[in-house]
Parts: sequence; C-alpha cells; structure tokens
Amino acid sequence: MRLLHQLASLAAVAGTATASVSVKYTGQAPTGYSVTFKYTNATAQKVQIAGGLLPFTDQFRTTPAFSAAHDPHEYRPGDFFVAGLNVNTTGNLGPQGNFTGFYMNDTGNGEWEWTAPFPSGTYSYAYIIDCDQGPKCATTEPGQVVPPLTFYNDPDNQPFQNDHLQFNHSIFQVPFDRQFQYYPALNLDFDYALPVPAAHQGKALAVNYSSPGSTYPAPDVHNLALYLPPGYDANCTTPYPVLYLSHGGGGTAFDWPNLAKAFNIIDNLIDGGWIPPTIVVCPEFYNLGCPDAGFGSPELMICVRENYLKNLLPFIESTYRASSDPNERAFAGLSLGSELTYEMYINATETFGYYGHFSGAKGPASSDTNVAGYISKVSVAANPSLADRGVFVGFGNFDIAFSDCRSLELALELAGVGFLSRFVPWGSHYWNTWQDTLWYFGRTALWKPRPFTVETARRGRVVY
Ligand SMILES: *[C@@H]1O[C@H](CO)[C@@H](O)[C@H](O)[C@H]1NC(C)=O
Ligand SMILES: *[C@@H]1O[C@H](CO)[C@@H](O)[C@H](O)[C@H]1NC(C)=O
Ligand SMILES: *[C@@H]1O[C@H](CO)[C@@H](O)[C@H](O)[C@H]1NC(C)=O
Ligand SMILES: *[C@@H]1O[C@H](CO)[C@@H](O)[C@H](O)[C@H]1NC(C)=O
Ligand SMILES: *[C@@H]1O[C@H](CO)[C@@H](O)[C@H](O)[C@H]1NC(C)=O
Ligand SMILES: *[C@@H]1O[C@H](CO)[C@@H](O)[C@H](O)[C@H]1NC(C)=O
Ligand SMILES: *[C@@H]1O[C@H](CO)[C@@H](O)[C@H](O)[C@H]1NC(C)=O
Ligand SMILES: *[C@@H]1O[C@H](CO)[C@@H](O)[C@H](O)[C@H]1NC(C)=O
Repeated sequence: MRLLHQLASLAAVAGTATASVSVKYTGQAPTGYSVTFKYTNATAQKVQIAGGLLPFTDQFRTTPAFSAAHDPHEYRPGDFFVAGLNVNTTGNLGPQGNFTGFYMNDTGNGEWEWTAPFPSGTYSYAYIIDCDQGPKCATTEPGQVVPPLTFYNDPDNQPFQNDHLQFNHSIFQVPFDRQFQYYPALNLDFDYALPVPAAHQGKALAVNYSSPGSTYPAPDVHNLALYLPPGYDANCTTPYPVLYLSHGGGGTAFDWPNLAKAFNIIDNLIDGGWIPPTIVVCPEFYNLGCPDAGFGSPELMICVRENYLKNLLPFIESTYRASSDPNERAFAGLSLGSELTYEMYINATETFGYYGHFSGAKGPASSDTNVAGYISKVSVAANPSLADRGVFVGFGNFDIAFSDCRSLELALELAGVGFLSRFVPWGSHYWNTWQDTLWYFGRTALWKPRPFTVETARRGRVVY
C-alpha cells in the first residue's frame, strides 16, 4: 500500500516558523524516505531531536534489556525500534546506555537541522535544548525526558489536543516502501496507521462530560477523546458499536489518537471492511476523584470501573447513537489500561462482549507460568459469562508485561476460555506494539462471533 509518494512539509515555511518536519520520498536506499527536522533557537548551545524518536535495533541483537541502538542512517531492512525495556530504565539503549536524543547540526544563525532516512512507522518527537544525560534532563524512559523543560514540541505540528499531564509530542508518519524495507521475517509495514482518503475518515473530537468527583479539567467535569466513524448519523436506525480504549500509566485521553494514530487505524479497519462503523471512546482514568492508592492498585482499578459504569457509559449512550448492548461494547487498554481491562473482564464481565488486553493483566508477574490469582476453572464456574467473552491478549517479545501476558494466556487456557492472541515478535512496551495489537484486535477479534474458537482469527491473518 503506497498511499503517499510524497508528504508535503507539515510545517509552515514562513519566516515565523521555528520548527518543522518534512517527510520526503527519495526512492533511494536505505528506506526510500528521508525526514528533515529544522529548529530555530539563537541562544541554544545544543539541540537534540528526541521525545519518542529512538535509535533502531534488530532481531539478532535485542534483549529485554538491550537495544543495539543503530543510528537511522545505518538502517537495514528488518530494523525496528524498542522502548520501555526491562531491567534498567536508564541503561538500556546502546553500548553507552545513555541515549537521550539525536544531536542536531548547528547550521549557523541559530538554525538547527537534522536529516535521516526512516522506515515505515509513526514517530513522536520533541526538541531538547542544552541538555545531556544527567540531572538536568533526567530520563525516565529511553528517549523520553521529564521536564524541566528543555523540552519543546513543534509549534507548527501540534498534537491533536494538548493535555496538562502530557509532554507535547508532535507526530509524523513514514510510509512503507517495499523496495527498500521488505523483510519477510517480520512485518514492519505500518501503513495501516496512515490516513485513509478524506471522504472515508471519521471525526476526532475532544469532549467534556459530567463526572461527579472529577478534579480535571474542572470540578465534576471529566474529559475524553472521541472518534465518530465516517458517515456517523445521529439518527441512524441501528446504534453503533462502541470500543472503549484506555491509555496506560501516566497517560491521558489523547495518547491513543496522538501517539498511536489510533483513529487512523480505526479508519483503516472500517475502510478495509474488517469492522463495521464503530464509535471509539478514549477515556482518562486519572483525576476522577479515585483514591490515590498507588500505581496500578486494585483499589484504583475498582474505583475506575465503578466510575466508568456510573458516569462514562451512560453519558456516551445518551449523547451519541451508541449501542448499550454488551455484545456491541468492547473494552481494551494498554499496560495499566490493560490491567483496567482485566478488572472489567473479571468484575464487569457482562458489561462488554469483547476485551482487548494489550501488554498487561494483573501487573508484574514472577514467571511466565504463574497462574495464581488469575482466572481459573473456579472463577468460570462462579461466573460462566467469563467463558463466552471475546478475549484478546497482545504483547511483545521485549515487553515488560511479557510474563504477565503469558501467565494470563496460560490461565485462560487452563480455565477453558477460548481467546485470541497476538505476539509481536519485534514488540516492546511501546506505541508501535500497541498500534499492531489494536490493528490485529480489529482484524481478528472485534465484533466477531463468540465464543472464540480456533477458526475465529483465520480470516484476519496478515500474509506478509
Ligand atoms: C532556547 O534556548 C535557550 C537556551 O539558550 C532556552 O533557555 C530556551 O528555553 C530555548 N527556547 C526554545 C523555544 O527552544
Ligand atoms: C542500571 O543503571 C544504573 C545507573 O546507571 C547502574 O548503576 C546499574 O548498574 C544498571 N543496572 C543494570 C542491571 O544494568
Ligand atoms: C550535519 O552536517 C554535515 C555537514 O553539513 C552533513 O554532512 C551531515 O549530513 C549533517 N547531518 C545530519 C544528520 O543532518
Ligand atoms: C554516554 O556515556 C559515555 C560513556 O560514559 C560518554 O562518553 C558520553 O559522553 C555519554 N553521552 C551522553 C549523551 O551523555
Ligand atoms: C505544550 O504546548 C503548550 C502550547 O501548545 C504549551 O503552553 C506548554 O507549555 C507545552 N508544554 C510542554 C511541557 O512543553
Ligand atoms: C473542557 O473544560 C475545560 C475546563 O472548563 C475547558 O478549558 C475546555 O475548553 C473544555 N473542552 C471542551 C472540548 O469543551
Ligand atoms: C435527528 O432527529 C431529531 C428529531 O428526532 C432532529 O431534531 C435532528 O435534527 C435529527 N438529526 C439529524 C442529524 O438528522
Ligand atoms: C474484582 O473484585 C474483587 C472484589 O472486590 C477484588 O478483590 C479484585 O481485586 C477485583 N479485580 C480483579 C481483577 O479480580
């Protein structure tokens, strides 16, 4: 799928612009595309391009704690990028283990520039000023730097919606070029996140709704990101199915549409006939007024579940032409949002027909086969509906949630629950993995007949 040979510069070229990114089709090795970043800052000593832009690695030199950290200029087919690796959140990128970003060239007059070939994918970026590894720009995750505040987005390529919790990530997408990027051992074609033709696109909206106890964005008001499918008709005779799609730890309602281009992926799923027109709701599980009982605590998950069922679902179903039939409701989430998905599956089983677990279930697991505390034959006997839900588990080879997801899969198997899974062979705990799991969730699982059997996913397979 070569949707675009050339993407125009995303930024204004006018003299007022202080930053830009342009993706150009070159038709040349190593990837067929080159990306140029420009930034203006007359007083900066050093400028890095970072904020989610990571070096590459390959399947022969990656472990859950180590990336080969190839510069993009050294790209070879089969290269991919990883983040959020295990063991040491600051010590896992490259031989020196201290990658924060790519240093831009000083081209004089306060102009900074950097050009590199990039393969297919969705990339977020931001500029880091006068910062090296160290206390001045402490890294929490590879390529992600906590303010203070040498961290700037591209003013001419703003994210869909900024948020108080979120770094400002500007986003660009590079198309797949089979001539230079084809690597049959791994599918690294992310064109399913490119925009479909304008007439086939759904609509992205930021929405506030009433949620008593919420502290943001206003007292008793909470926020969400909403996708209405193309041709959405508020008076349609049949209501639309609804996918509730959760962010993860530290995230916001706008993460999925910004960092994963999730609404482009949904557009492609609908356009390709994999799912019927579907409403997608990206809620936000912070600032709901839930007790701060610690990262991923059961108390938080239980409180968010109760809150969503009491406030979020009724709002969606009374405001939009949204189905309230559990068979037409799905819940999915990534990481901590996947723990929330598991909470919904176990404790709100009949509210949703489909559950997409992307990189998480119960939290860190001690082994790949530790089924203690997960679903079991006993839970299914007490709650038979657990067995006929559309359960999907997706995760990556280098994912910090690997053992958690493996344990969940084994527990489902032992409990006799049919499920589908997507193991992402190049995947880490990061957005490219969750783009892939969302794409496969849509193709193989969403709104498909239940309970799932060994035949369910055979139509949705991708042939590389
Ligand atoms: C420009 O660089 C200076 C450091 O000399 C820094 O303090 C300032 O925040 C930077 N501003 C932008 C918009 O990059
Ligand atoms: C993790 O990083 C810290 C600080 O850089 C270092 O002291 C430690 O040895 C690293 N641990 C591993 C397992 O690499
Ligand atoms: C940096 O500038 C040098 C000299 O002009 C150029 O050869 C090189 O390609 C530039 N590097 C990048 C990454 O743009
Ligand atoms: C990374 O660490 C190496 C070895 O300690 C050092 O030489 C290099 O300057 C560091 N790079 C950055 C960006 O801090
Ligand atoms: C994010 O962008 C907004 C405006 O677009 C700006 O006010 C805010 O300071 C930025 N935040 C960060 C952390 O860069
Ligand atoms: C949501 O509410 C906040 C606080 O009142 C307001 O600033 C923001 O513009 C509202 N957003 C929308 C989409 O209505
Ligand atoms: C839907 O129907 C209501 C009355 O039932 C009408 O007021 C409204 O304009 C219609 N909306 C659209 C989009 O046709
Ligand atoms: C489900 O509810 C029970 C009882 O409140 C609670 O102990 C448990 O943590 C909840 N979540 C899961 C995933 O079991």
